[in-house]
Amino acid sequence: MSTDIAQILRKKELAREDIIRLLQVKGEEQEALLDAAYRVKAEYVGKYTYFRGLIEFSNICSKDCFYCGIRRGNKKVQPYVLSDEEVMQAVRYSAEKDWGSVVIQAGERSDTAFIERIDSLIKQIKAFPGKELGITLSLGDQDEATYRRWFASGAHRYLLRIESANPELYTKLHPCDARHDFQRRLDSLKLLQKCDYHTGTGVMIGLPSQTYDDLAGDLLFIRDMDIDMIGMGPYIEHEDTPLYKYRDTLMPLQERFELALRMTAVLRLLMKDVNIAAATALQAIHPHGRERALRAGANVIMPNLTPVKYHGDYSLYLNKPTVNEETDAYVRGLEAHIHAAGDEIGYGTWGDPVHYKTRTGKEINK
Ligand code: 5AD
Repeated sequence: MSTDIAQILRKKELAREDIIRLLQVKGEEQEALLDAAYRVKAEYVGKYTYFRGLIEFSNICSKDCFYCGIRRGNKKVQPYVLSDEEVMQAVRYSAEKDWGSVVIQAGERSDTAFIERIDSLIKQIKAFPGKELGITLSLGDQDEATYRRWFASGAHRYLLRIESANPELYTKLHPCDARHDFQRRLDSLKLLQKCDYHTGTGVMIGLPSQTYDDLAGDLLFIRDMDIDMIGMGPYIEHEDTPLYKYRDTLMPLQERFELALRMTAVLRLLMKDVNIAAATALQAIHPHGRERALRAGANVIMPNLTPVKYHGDYSLYLNKPTVNEETDAYVRGLEAHIHAAGDEIGYGTWGDPVHYKTRTGKEINK
C-alpha cells in the first residue's frame, strides 16, 4: 500500500482531495479502505445489520426523471397500486420475522387520494397487533402539511435522495420545471429535518458525465446536511429512459459496483454513527452485492417484500432483481451471508440511526 493512502486512512478529518484519492483506490488499497470503514462501523454502531421490509406500494409517478424506468413518460409501464391486504401481508411477514421496520416506497404523487391512502396505511401498520413496527417513507417531495400529517400518524423516517448534490449535474438528470427543481428537493430535505423525521438521502454513482469531484461533493453534502440515513447505489441504465443514449460513455458495471463500495466506505469514515443502507442496485450487478456493502460500512438491508407479480412493473433500472425475498430459504441464505460478513442481525428493534440522537438530542418513541 502506498504511504499516502495509509496516511489518509489515519487522518481524523478527510479533506476533499483525500476523498477524491480514496474514491479511486484499487486492489489491496481498496481492501484497506473497506477494512477501515468496517472498523469504524463496529466501533460506533456495532457489527449489526438491520432489516427493513421494503414495500413498493405503487409505480404510478408524476415525475419524469431522465434516469428512471417508472418515469411518467415511459408508456410501457403497467400501472399498479397494492391493495391494503397486499401491504398488510408484507407487514405481517416483517412482523413474523421480527424485522423491526418497514419501508413504504412509491412513485411520486401528491393528490389528496394518495396522501390519505398512505395516511391510512401508516395507521394500519401502527395498529398491527403485538408489534410496534417502525415506518420509513420514501414517497418523494411533499408539502410540509403532508410530512407533518404522516409523521403524526406514526411514520418516523423519510428517504429522499438528492440524486446528485451538484446542481448542474442534477439539472441534466431532470426536466427543467418547478416539480423537478433542485432547490425544491433541498428544501424538502430541510423540511423533513424540521418535521423531526430521521432524514435520509443519497445519490446515484456512475452517472453520465459524473466526476470524482462530484462524488466527493456528494459525500460532503451529506455530511454538511447532517443526514441520519444514507442509501447510495450504482446508476444502472434503463432502455426506456432518455439517459440510455449515454450508455456507451459509462464506466463498466463492475467498476460502478466497486466505486459504490468505496463511496460507502468513505461515507462511513466521514459519518461514523449514521445508518447506511446497502443499495438494492448493488444486487442487480452481483447477487450478493448488498452483503459486500456491509463489509464496507453499511448496516441496513431492505429485502423486497413487494408481491413478486409486480416486480417487473417496478423496474427503475435494468436487471432489477425479481427474486422472491419473502421465502424462508431466501432469508436463511441472506442471514448466512450477513453472518459470513461478520455481522449479527438486529432483530426485534427499530435499529434507529444513532446519529439522530447526536444531531437532535431527541429520541422518537411512537
Ligand atoms: N439506476 C439506479 N438507481 C435508480 N433510481 C432510479 N432510477 C435509477 C437507475 N436507473 C433510484 C433513485 C431513486 C431511487 C428510488 O431509485 O436514486 O431515488
